[in-house]
Amino acid sequence: MEDTARGRLTKDGIRIYEPGDFAGMHAAGRLAAQILDEISDHVFPGQNTAEIDRIITQKVEEAGAKSATIGYKGYQHASCISVNHVVCHGIPGDKKLKDGDILNIDVTVIVDGWFGDTSRMYVAGKLPRKAERLIQVTHDALFKGIEAVKPGNTFGDIGYAIQSYVESHRMSVVRDFCGHGLGRVFHAPPNVLHYGRAGTGPVLEEGMFFTIEPMVNLGRPETKVLADDWTAVTRDKSLSAQFEHSVGVTADGVEIFTLSPADRFHPTWVE
Ligand code: MF3
Ligand code: CO
Ligand code: CO
Repeated sequence: MEDTARGRLTKDGIRIYEPGDFAGMHAAGRLAAQILDEISDHVFPGQNTAEIDRIITQKVEEAGAKSATIGYKGYQHASCISVNHVVCHGIPGDKKLKDGDILNIDVTVIVDGWFGDTSRMYVAGKLPRKAERLIQVTHDALFKGIEAVKPGNTFGDIGYAIQSYVESHRMSVVRDFCGHGLGRVFHAPPNVLHYGRAGTGPVLEEGMFFTIEPMVNLGRPETKVLADDWTAVTRDKSLSAQFEHSVGVTADGVEIFTLSPADRFHPTWVE
C-alpha cells in the first residue's frame, strides 16, 4: 500500500510524523493491547487456536475497528498464533493446545487509519522451566531495545542492545524477520533488525513510528517457512519466543503505543 500520510520522509525513506499524530497511534495501540489482555483467559490446554482467533476477530469488530491482517497478502485471520517452535506467522487452526505449550499471539488493528501492532507470549497450563527462561529473556530483550530508542541513537544501537543481551544468555536472535516502520500503513521503512552493530544504520529522529519485535530461539537462529507459505519454524525445532511493541520517538526518548491497559504485557507467571 502506498504511504500517503502527511509529514516528510528522511533520506532512508522513513516517515517523520507530527506531534499530533501520536494520539492516533496511542488509540490504535491501546486497542490491540487491550485485546491481548482480554485473550489470556481463553488460553488453556484443550483450546484450539482457531477459537482464540475467532474471539479476537469478534473483539476487533465490537470495538468498531478493523483487522490489519485479514486480507493482507492473502492472510485470512485477525491474529498470528505461533506455538512452541513456530517462530512467527503461525496460522490459527483446529489443533488443540497441550499442557506446557507456549504461544505468541500477534494482533494488528486499524483505528481511524492508524495501525497498532503488538504481540506477547502465553502458556497453556503449566510453564516448563526452559520455556520460562526463554520467555523472560525475550521480554527483557525487547525492553533493552526500547531503552536504546532516542533521537541521535541509531537503529543499529537497537539491534546491538537486543543481540548482545540475548547472546549473553546463550540464546539466539532470529535474523530472517524484523520489525518495521508503521503509522498510516502496516509495513514501511525501515527494517528494524534485532541484531547489529552500535552506531550503524539510520539515525533515530523525533516522529519516527516503528515496531520492535525480537524473536529469540533456545537453539540456532535459522528458520524455514512451511508449505502453507506463512508458518515460520526453527530449523532445529528448538523453542522460540517473541514480544512486540509499537513505539514512537519523542524529543527525548520513546513512547510505547501498545502498553497493556491491565498491565498484563509481562507474563507474571514468569518470575
Ligand atoms: N503482525 C505481524 C507483524 O508483526 C505481521 C503479520 S502479517 C500476517 O508485522 F499476514 F501474517 F498476519
Ligand atoms: Co510487526
Ligand atoms: Co505483529
